[in-house]
Amino acid sequence: MAKKRIGILTSGGDCAGLNAVIRAVVHSAHHLGWDVVGIQDGTAGLLVHPPQYRVLTPNEFDGILLRQGGTILGTTNKGNPFAFPMPDGSVKDRSGEIVAGFKALNLDAVIGIGGDGSFAILSRLAKQGGINMVGIPKTIDNDIGMTETSVGFDTAVAVATEALDRLQPTAASHDRIMILEVMGRDAGHIALAAGIAGGADVILIPEIKYSIENIAAKIRAVKESGRNFGLVVVSEAVKTVDGSKFEVSYSDGQKRYGGIGNYIGAKLAESTGSETRVTVLGHVQRGSPPTYNDRLLASAFGVKAVELIRQRQSKCGRMVAWQNREVVDVAIEDAIKAYQDVDLNSPLVHTARALGISLGD
Ligand code: F6P
Repeated sequence: MAKKRIGILTSGGDCAGLNAVIRAVVHSAHHLGWDVVGIQDGTAGLLVHPPQYRVLTPNEFDGILLRQGGTILGTTNKGNPFAFPMPDGSVKDRSGEIVAGFKALNLDAVIGIGGDGSFAILSRLAKQGGINMVGIPKTIDNDIGMTETSVGFDTAVAVATEALDRLQPTAASHDRIMILEVMGRDAGHIALAAGIAGGADVILIPEIKYSIENIAAKIRAVKESGRNFGLVVVSEAVKTVDGSKFEVSYSDGQKRYGGIGNYIGAKLAESTGSETRVTVLGHVQRGSPPTYNDRLLASAFGVKAVELIRQRQSKCGRMVAWQNREVVDVAIEDAIKAYQDVDLNSPLVHTARALGISLGD
């Protein structure tokens, strides 16, 4: 078989396990005698001249990288090339420059490690430039459709669960209600999973409308049962009772969720008379060493992506996915359309309710 030269890039917000994916791709491609080119900073590495890339060799990945958070290639979650923000405030379609950058690298195929936003951009670029692309799903939010899980989610849940383990003793020492605000964007997967695993009394997710009366009643019931502390997990996209979002604006004009934990803490203090404290977990959910599950998923996905290229399956734009204990591949277009927030009939929602955890409704 002819020697191939494939590209790899990480795109969107980082998460634990990206380096493990890169490592798996490099190792399995080298096993076939192929070259792997790592593109720097997602598609941004192709907007500069010459394109920013480096040839990746397996030796580089011996030792620490399997365990290390972040991405050695760098990434970006802004700068959509189809509407690229220019310094003068205008937006410009720079997709042609990116396609030219891909072509300049002389690649047989590209592996894009990303979430649904990145995949929408990458598959559009792939179509425009006739580029063979395989997607590997990663996101702590776990909101990509057609895969049961994505790289980074397990680690984020582990970090949030550990935070609850650390909050519980101090909550009990001070008779407090601890509110933990977690990430997840518009999906409540992290809150739901970590809340169950970490023994929360209340879990608030964007998919379920809550009332302060309901969650205050749960906290009062906990106290009346003789327990002196309570644990509440709230997902960042949960709205106020009158439907307003909590967002933080950054100097570059970007907005991100943040702040709902303080709102819930104040409301609960007012309605239960309990002392409350709020922890906003933030980016520590993204930056730690990957759990063993994320390392396994990253390795299996990386190997499958290379296999797809070997079998010439990448032409039509495939995404590797985890379904029913197997690594499969699906059309990337279908995965983008199948956004996956928390299914209210899912086993975890049922489990939370059966455990007596209040979901606020
Ligand atoms: O999509 C991953 C994520 O961590 C979300 O959970 C969160 O809302 C957002 O990215 C934070 O983005 P940034 O890294 O730009 O602050």
